[in-house]
Amino acid sequence: MKSLAVPSFRGPADFTVLDLPAPRISRPDHILIKVHAASINPTDIALASGAFKLAVKTPFPIKLGYDVSGTIEAIGDSVTAFKVGDEVFCCLPWEDRGGISEYALTTTSFIVSKPSNLSHVAAASLPLVSLTSLQSFEKISALSTGEEFAGKTVLIPAGLSGVGVVACQMAKTIFGAEKVITTVSTSKIDKVDEVLGRGIVDQVIDYTAANPFQAIPRGSVDILLNTTSEFMSMLPLLRKGTGRIISIKGASGHNIKAVIPNISYPIFLLLNLLAFFRRRRAAARGVKYDDMIQKPSKRDLERISQWAEKGKLKAVVGGIVMLDDLDGLREECKRIGSGKGGRIGKVVIEVVHA
Ligand SMILES: NC(=O)c1ccc[n+]([C@@H]2O[C@H](COP(=O)([O-])OP(=O)(O)OC[C@H]3O[C@@H](n4cnc5c(N)ncnc54)[C@H](OP(=O)(O)O)[C@@H]3O)[C@@H](O)[C@H]2O)c1
Repeated sequence: MKSLAVPSFRGPADFTVLDLPAPRISRPDHILIKVHAASINPTDIALASGAFKLAVKTPFPIKLGYDVSGTIEAIGDSVTAFKVGDEVFCCLPWEDRGGISEYALTTTSFIVSKPSNLSHVAAASLPLVSLTSLQSFEKISALSTGEEFAGKTVLIPAGLSGVGVVACQMAKTIFGAEKVITTVSTSKIDKVDEVLGRGIVDQVIDYTAANPFQAIPRGSVDILLNTTSEFMSMLPLLRKGTGRIISIKGASGHNIKAVIPNISYPIFLLLNLLAFFRRRRAAARGVKYDDMIQKPSKRDLERISQWAEKGKLKAVVGGIVMLDDLDGLREECKRIGSGKGGRIGKVVIEVVHA
């Protein structure tokens, strides 16, 4: 089968589509998915480029992709909740990654029926970024002893990024935030309402401006979802004493270990130390800081699917590339790997089977 995979560490300009054996059912709870669409995330490019090589040993070839939407091709003997031909989507766990392929294999505990109102392309854009947003906000709720978001101001930088398009919607329509503030580059300012719908974002700031955060009064933000590396510059904006930061950049060793159990011990310690200093710096300003790394979860994805079906969460696909368009794949992966954005929402790879 065709698979976006690398035979050795390399940058996106040298990514390859390899012909690899299709995965096979080898456990009673296995499900083999015929992939119709999959999406790319920055972590795919980082993994292939060797950014995690000191943290975890990964055998080659490394197949890429966590987000998948497709039809069930085969099931293991114990699977009763699904049948061959069902339309499903999922976020593959670390050990099953490789969704940007003609076929993907995982267990029934990660698979959910595709939202009935979404195409495979739209469905494939949702899992990883939606799980990230949902689990981040739930972590904040837990951090703030279960307080609701009602009456709260939430700052979500990069509101038209892969994570941002979902996080802004969830903050408003699911968690009930009072005010959502976001940042985008100049050309995207007018696109925010058009893409997310009026009333989702209350204030849009051009992050390329000289002092982007001048537009936000100091001490007025209750919750920051840190989607960029620049949370220190945003710290003064948070309310002293009650402000919360949840960061999806720079996870602690503990949080990574929950997803990648074989993380190397020195890196585990180093990441915990860095997280400790970030927490201390935030605490010095009366703000609670925590980081997170998303975990594939069937229960959470079922909720996301229901929200999509009810129209509370819309999929935002900013680009589609075919799996056999190697130049197109490399171009998109280069752009995503650079962290500079450019697209709106997610880039999805469509897989056409011969
Ligand atoms: N912890 C986790 O579990 C987890 C999960 C998912 C993602 N992440 C991480 O979260 C980050 C975002 O992921 P993504 O999928 O949303 O990325 P993405 O779709 O590639 O988007 C990157 C975005 O960053 C914006 N941007 C670049 N520099 C900025 C700045 N200085 N201020 C504000 N916005 C800026 C760009 O906006 P313009 O186009 O307007 O320039 C673009 O929209 C990545 O580092 C990713 O690895 C972590």
